[in-house]
Amino acid sequence: MNAAVVLAAGKGTRLRSATPKVLHPAAGRPLLGWVLEAQHPLGLARVVVVVGHGGDDVRGYVDGLGMPGGRCVPQAEQRGTGHAVRTALDAGALDDATEVLVLAGDVPAVTPASLEALRAARGDVPAAVMTTRLADPTGYGRILTDGDRITAIVEERDATDAQRGVDRVNTGLFAFDATALRGALGRLTTDNAQGEEYLTDTVALLAAEGGVTGVDVPADEVAGVNDRAQLAAVEATLRRRILDGLMVAGVRVVDPAATYVDAEVEVAADATLLPGTMLHGRTRVAAGAVVGPHSRLTDVVVEADATVTYTVAVEARVGPRATVGPYTHLRAGTVLEAGAKAGGFVEMKKAHIGEGSKVPHLSYVGDAEVGRGVNVGAGVVTVNYDGFTKSVTTIGDGAFVGSDTMLVAPIEVGPGAYVGAGSVITTDVPADALALERGERRTIEGWAARKRERHRKGDQA
Ligand code: UD1
Ligand code: CA
Repeated sequence: MNAAVVLAAGKGTRLRSATPKVLHPAAGRPLLGWVLEAQHPLGLARVVVVVGHGGDDVRGYVDGLGMPGGRCVPQAEQRGTGHAVRTALDAGALDDATEVLVLAGDVPAVTPASLEALRAARGDVPAAVMTTRLADPTGYGRILTDGDRITAIVEERDATDAQRGVDRVNTGLFAFDATALRGALGRLTTDNAQGEEYLTDTVALLAAEGGVTGVDVPADEVAGVNDRAQLAAVEATLRRRILDGLMVAGVRVVDPAATYVDAEVEVAADATLLPGTMLHGRTRVAAGAVVGPHSRLTDVVVEADATVTYTVAVEARVGPRATVGPYTHLRAGTVLEAGAKAGGFVEMKKAHIGEGSKVPHLSYVGDAEVGRGVNVGAGVVTVNYDGFTKSVTTIGDGAFVGSDTMLVAPIEVGPGAYVGAGSVITTDVPADALALERGERRTIEGWAARKRERHRKGDQA
């Protein structure tokens, strides 16, 4: 059986956060989620996550993923990376494992291909370590070699000046023969600068007992996250990887540096993402749709050939050929059917807008059921809240609501009805009727001319 141990017990002190390090999101997914996703294609039978700081939250996240073979093991005190792996083994979670991969919960950008390369590099020696080359290796464990053979890893704080000059570093990711690992962990000491059981010390032990191999991978894949700047850097790597994947799949991304697409988002070939687009959560964008510039969509479905411009939308559906924006806010529960329109400075909440219906300008439509082919004029408000409860507005097919109308809910405007501009409508409007609510108009002939004349004379006096 092949297994992985994911080290995720650390606090992440340098992030200065109440959230445990491995639950910090990068491109819409916690760091730990990226690690678990990377190992998934390897088809490991068991994945043990070692949890400590924020352990309940981390466990809750892992349980929520419902990974077959996934489980969490608590490490009550963080006594080093070697102690963490030993804790996983001692918990009995890996008893029938033949190979154990060790992954770090704070190294999220590793790829499945590099993990496969690590296993292949091990072959049948006791261990393989994933390494990289850094112009500035400060802080990392250095890889010591004798010719081609890896002989040991020495931590920065335990290294001599000469050893600190080595630019090949330990990424913290390993593949071990399970039996060899168990034996080596049993012989670790805490005789080092940090007084911890270092996993890295297994390398010198195993190098003497069959050898340790290494595989070099690109540095951006194995960048660790210890502070906020590194979190931003790793997020940029992951974001770019998502966008590259979309572009390969046929999505037009006009400016990848200004486009933000989260891990779970789906975008179809021939969709266009204009600069300033942020797609979050379970957002889906269909072929031919154009999103942006400057639109933030969270859990939104954008169907074929729709356009969404300068918009903020949450939990909404934009139907085929529908148009949204500019400067539009679609709140949860809004559905625009095919060809419908939510235009400039329009806010909608729990509004169902029927096929071909238009709300082009400056309106609030909330808790509303709007039929097909309806025209809602500029400045119309569904008055859905009386300070205590929310009420529903229903507008039938083909109705026409004149500009600057207040529809005081609960209210129903029947199919084909007209509501005159500027009305405050408080009772239902029958089908095909005209409803009009206005004060009597007065016209005083010549009044303005007389007023101007009075002022002119006054000025001369
Ligand atoms: C470790 C390596 C170092 C390597 C670097 C790469 C050791 C001794 N050092 O150093 O060679 O270059 O990673 O990023 O292994 N953890 C636990 N329990 C513990 C201690 C740590 O779960 O008791 C977890 C941390 O949460 C983290 C990972 O192990 O996810 C690495 O620990 P960290 O303290 O960050 O090690 P580094 O000092 O970065
Ligand atoms: Ca680290």
